[in-house]
Amino acid sequence: MPASYKKKLIEVAIPLEAINAASAREKSIRHGHPSTLHLWWARRPLAACRAVLFAQLVDDPSSRVDELLADKKLRARAEAELPKRVKAWEESKAAAKGAAASAPKPTLEDVIVEIERKRLFDIIEELVKWENSTNEEVLERARAEIRRSCGGELPPVYDPFSGGGSIPLEAQRLGLPAYGSDLNPVAVMIGKAMIEIPPKFKDMPPSTPASRSGRSTATPKGWPRM
Ligand SMILES: C[S@@+](CC[C@H](N)C(=O)[O-])C[C@H]1O[C@@H](n2cnc3c(N)ncnc32)[C@H](O)[C@@H]1O
Repeated sequence: MPASYKKKLIEVAIPLEAINAASAREKSIRHGHPSTLHLWWARRPLAACRAVLFAQLVDDPSSRVDELLADKKLRARAEAELPKRVKAWEESKAAAKGAAASAPKPTLEDVIVEIERKRLFDIIEELVKWENSTNEEVLERARAEIRRSCGGELPPVYDPFSGGGSIPLEAQRLGLPAYGSDLNPVAVMIGKAMIEIPPKFKDMPPSTPASRSGRSTATPKGWPRM
């Protein structure tokens, strides 16, 4: 492993409880969910894909301790927090036996990394909520973190076995150039319908404006009647 190797967040920690809860909740969402487009047997929860993509691309804060220590506000927060952590460590050390008794004393670096990791967890916890699937403010916060860890770019993502297309869909939502492929033509069709074709019509006016207003949708003038 090269000396400059930077650990990604997913290699260290992710907020599993929030990701699991959002993933489980998604099973009961029908309106607007791709699961209603076509049955796919092994569809991955979108919330989990979104979180995993983010955590794979964003560096764990332990990879940039110097940068964090140079941030005056953050450093002051960590310095204020450190004595509490040391006290808790001393108490648990006095009460603990075995491995727990040999836990290392917390340092300023540990505390500052934890504070920053918590900030990234907060972003993930917002990102995985179904209500935030199209919340540009939440998505943009996530994109900014990805850019910071990826040399200012939003890198492309390719899922060579894309199945129901959850990974390229979520990559696209995060603004990453997204690619998918699959051996199964049904999966390819789902991918095209969900990821390739919709962006071509993005921001175009609806062909049946009444459908947006909640009124019943008459067949547009000139269209064949079914
Ligand atoms: C578990 S599914 C993929 C799930 C998907 N990555 C997701 O996260 O939702 C595995 C997919 O791999 C595809 N597959 C299997 N062998 C393949 C191959 N040799 N080339 C391309 N796709 C293949 C299958 O058709 C299936 O859709």
